[in-house]
Amino acid sequence: MLRIAEGRKLYDRLIQGDLVTVMAGMTEPFDSVFSACVLYYFADLRPIFAQVARLMAPEGMFVFSVDPYGDEHEIGVTGPGEYCHSRRYLRSLAAEVGLEEKAIEIARHRGPPGFWCAFKKA
Ligand SMILES: C[S@@+](CC[C@H](N)C(=O)[O-])C[C@H]1O[C@@H](n2cnc3c(N)ncnc32)[C@H](O)[C@@H]1O
Repeated sequence: MLRIAEGRKLYDRLIQGDLVTVMAGMTEPFDSVFSACVLYYFADLRPIFAQVARLMAPEGMFVFSVDPYGDEHEIGVTGPGEYCHSRRYLRSLAAEVGLEEKAIEIARHRGPPGFWCAFKKA
């Protein structure tokens, strides 16, 4: 993935590492954080929401996709090491860290549809 990204000559910086660990070591504010088809590898998204909210500039947008789950649940298992998340769970995490929901839509995501979400830092 990093080799492909490097070949596109679009990015100022590419970092290899665990995303929570890497974000925990950062201090600069970001205008936006985008994560496509990555968060389904994580059961508990709380550490990610916490780091994103800490690093995001005011009015910044956090846009991401997850595997979808019904609101009667929070986190489910879709396969080995793969998880799905409900809108209720995502909304509760966002409220905890001060992110405001702008959209949660259903659209193509790693094949089957997923939730595409946009949350804004208040
Ligand atoms: C399905 S790919 C999606 C890549 C890209 N966003 C795209 O849409 O083409 C999932 C990516 O998540 C990365 N990933 C999985 N767990 C990770 C973690 N803990 N920290 C950082 N990246 C992780 C994998 O290395 C892989 O590159």
